[in-house]
Formats: sequence, C-alpha cells, structure tokens
Amino acid sequence: PAPGGPRRGALVVFEGIDRCGKSTQCSLLLESLQRRGVRAELWRFPDRTTPIGGLINEYLQKKAALDDAVIHLLFVANRNEKREEMLRLLAGGTTLVLDRYSYSGVAYTAAKGVPHLDAGFCRAAETGLPAADLVVYLDLDPEQSAARGGFGSERYEKVEFQKKVRSQYGALADGRWLRLDASQPAEQLQAQVAAAVQRAVERAAAGEPLGRLWD
Ligand code: TYD
Ligand code: MG
Repeated sequence: PAPGGPRRGALVVFEGIDRCGKSTQCSLLLESLQRRGVRAELWRFPDRTTPIGGLINEYLQKKAALDDAVIHLLFVANRNEKREEMLRLLAGGTTLVLDRYSYSGVAYTAAKGVPHLDAGFCRAAETGLPAADLVVYLDLDPEQSAARGGFGSERYEKVEFQKKVRSQYGALADGRWLRLDASQPAEQLQAQVAAAVQRAVERAAAGEPLGRLWD
C-alpha cells in the first residue's frame, strides 16, 4: 500500500449450491466483522436491483426465456457493472463479503453441458474482474439441501441440476479455497469461517495485492 495510505479490504466470496447456507453464513460473518471493528459490506450476486439484474430476475423466475449464452453474459455484465465500486471500496479499506460471484457464473453455466459454453468459455468472460482473497465453499449433497427446506421454484432449483453444479464446483476449486462441510451446525461453521476470514483480512491489510481472475 502507499505509505500512510489506507490498508485495503479483503474480497471474501461465499459459494455453494442453492440452499447450502451461504446467506446465513454471510450474515453471521458480517455481524462478527462489524463487532470486531472491521469495516465491511455484504453484497450478493446476482444484484437484482439494476436493469440487468431485473432481466436476470425474470429469467430465474421463469418469466422470461433467454438463450444460455445471453443469460450467462448478463450475469457477467451484472458483476462488471459493480466492478468499479468494488475496487473503490476495497482500495478504501472496506472488506467485501460476496454471496456468490464469478465462481457461480462458471459452475452454473458449465453445469448445463452446452458444448460452446464450457468452463473455458465461462472463465474467459470474467478475466477483467478481481479474484477473491478467500473463497469459502459450503459443500453439501443436493439430496441433503433438498431435504432441508426444499428448493424454491426458481430455475436451477432441481436436485439433478444441483448435482451437476456441485461437480463443476469440484472441478473449479483450487487448494486456496476453504471447503467446509455445510451439513455442520451453523455456529460451528461460522467459527471456521471467521478464523479464515480474519487471516484474509490481515493479509490484505498487510499489502498482499488483489489478484485477477483466474491467476
Ligand atoms: P441465489 O444466490 O440463489 O439468489 P437467491 O438467494 O435470491 O435465491 O442466486 C440465484 C441463482 O442464480 C442461483 O441458482 C445461482 C444462479 N447464478 C448463476 O447461474 N450464475 C451466476 O453468475 C450467479 C451469480 C448466480
Ligand atoms: Mg436461490
């Protein structure tokens, strides 16, 4: 960091299949960061509040049909429209907790098995975005997530598709991901999350540069 300049915040991303407990863990994490005096914000992707997010919302709610490449690129555009604000907040010292990010983009689209939309294509579309300092992957068997409270009625919320998404996440995960067994009680999970996030926040503050997807 510039001498005397702000210490940058960390980019922490939660990933996993639908109903694996991401949103609960994100909220618990935000509370614990704020209790410890770490400046932090919680965002979610897709951001359904923008015009592009509105189109994504209609697609997910099955009110609109879209070509697979088009919806994929809308998800990518939805992240890119938040890119500058993300970079500005991080540079100013705010830690960002993201409920889904580009890793969802790759895992969900690649899970469709459309030949021209493989993981390589999906990754290539995301290279202008910052990489996460920490990916927390909440791993859960789709049969278990379905049994938990059931999937909703949105597109993708089907056990067979979720199994494919899980296997795409498995292919995407590298040694730097924190993979947690999401069948554990929420408080137990949160303790492991908080410890890893603490280290990521310290590394970022110490000046470790923000990476780029998919370095
Ligand atoms: P989700 O986090 O489940 O939103 P909510 O909690 O409001 O239900 O995200 C909606 C769906 O969008 C989910 O099934 C994953 C999918 N998705 C993609 O297919 N590509 C993406 O790039 C992202 C961010 C999400
Ligand atoms: Mg959902």
